[in-house]
Amino acid sequence: MTNTASLIALSKAMPKTELHLHIEGTFEPEQMFSIAQRNQVTLKYATVEELKAAYQFTNLQDFLDLYYQGMSVLIKEADFYDLTMAYLQKVHSENVVHVEIFFDPQGHTERGVPFDVQIKGIRQALEDAKQKWGMTYQLIMSFLRHLSEESAFETLEAAKPFLDWIDGVGLDSSEVGHPPEKFAKVFSVCRDLGLKITAHAGEEGPPEYVWQALDLIKVQRIDHGNRALEDDDLVAEIARQQLTLTVCPLSNLKLCVVNDMVDHPIRTMLKLGLKATVNSDDPAYFGGYMNDNYQALIERTQINKQELYQLARNGIEGSWMETAIKKQHLQQLDILFDN
Ligand code: ADE
Ligand code: ZN
Repeated sequence: MTNTASLIALSKAMPKTELHLHIEGTFEPEQMFSIAQRNQVTLKYATVEELKAAYQFTNLQDFLDLYYQGMSVLIKEADFYDLTMAYLQKVHSENVVHVEIFFDPQGHTERGVPFDVQIKGIRQALEDAKQKWGMTYQLIMSFLRHLSEESAFETLEAAKPFLDWIDGVGLDSSEVGHPPEKFAKVFSVCRDLGLKITAHAGEEGPPEYVWQALDLIKVQRIDHGNRALEDDDLVAEIARQQLTLTVCPLSNLKLCVVNDMVDHPIRTMLKLGLKATVNSDDPAYFGGYMNDNYQALIERTQINKQELYQLARNGIEGSWMETAIKKQHLQQLDILFDN
C-alpha cells in the first residue's frame, strides 16, 4: 500500500469526534425532496439534480441562502428525527464515536415551527444512537448572528424548559457585519446558566472578531478560526488558552475560504501549537462527511502520520465528553497508531 493509501485507511479506522456540525447542513437532497413531498411543501427546484447543480458557492452568504431554503421543509418532530438519524447512521459507519451537534432554532421558529418540536426530534435520534451504538453526544443551540440580540434572548427563553438537554450555545450565520460584541449580553446570561460557549469566528470575519469571541463572549472553543492566523498575538493567545479550533476543510474549499485544498492552513495551525480538529460543518452541501474531510487533507496537503494522530487526538481532547470516556478513546487511538 502507498503511504497515502495507508494513511487514508488509518483515518477511516480511527475513532473520531465531530465537533462542528450543523444538523440542518446534513440535509441530503434526496431526503429533502422526500420530506417536502410528505409535508406537501414545494421546493424551488424541480429535481434533486437541479438542486445539486445549485451547490456552487462563492462565499458564505451564497451557501446560507440555500441552507435556509432547504431547512424550510422541516415541520414535524419526525422530520427532525429522520434528519438527525440519517446523519448519525452515516457517521457511525465512519467510526465517529462522539458528536457535538449545532441546531439553529431561529431558522425554524421564524417559520412557525415551535422550539419543542425541533429539540424533541433531534434529541430522540441522539438518544437512540447512544442506545444502539454507544455514540455519545452534546447538543449545542446556535444563535443566528444576522438576527438581533433581542431575538437571541427570545430563543433562550424558549429553550428554558429544555436546558437539561442543551449542553452549549454557539453563534453562526452571516459573519461579516455581525461581530460577537453584538451578542455579549446574551452570552453572559448563557454562561451564568452553566452552558458551554463556542462561536464561529474568523471564517470570513477579521481577527478582531476572534478577539471579541475570546474577550467578550469568552468562548471555550472557536469554530473555524482560519483568519486568526493573520494576527501573531492572537495566535499566541489562542495557544496560551489551549483553545480548540473546529476546522472544516471541505467547507473552507466550497465557501472559498481557501482557494485550493493544497493551501489549507491546518498543518500551519498544528505547527503553531494550535489545537486544530477536523470537522464537516454542512456535509450535504460541501461534498463530504468526516472521512472525506480527512481524505482530502491526506491527498492534498500531505499530512503525515503524526499530524493525523494529532488531529484525531485534538478532536477527542477538545470535545466536551466525559473525561473517563475521553481516556478510553485516547487509549484506542494510541493502540491504532502503535504509540
Ligand atoms: N451555518 C451553517 N454553516 C455555517 C458556516 N459554515 N458558517 C456560518 N454559519 C453557518
Ligand atoms: Zn459552521
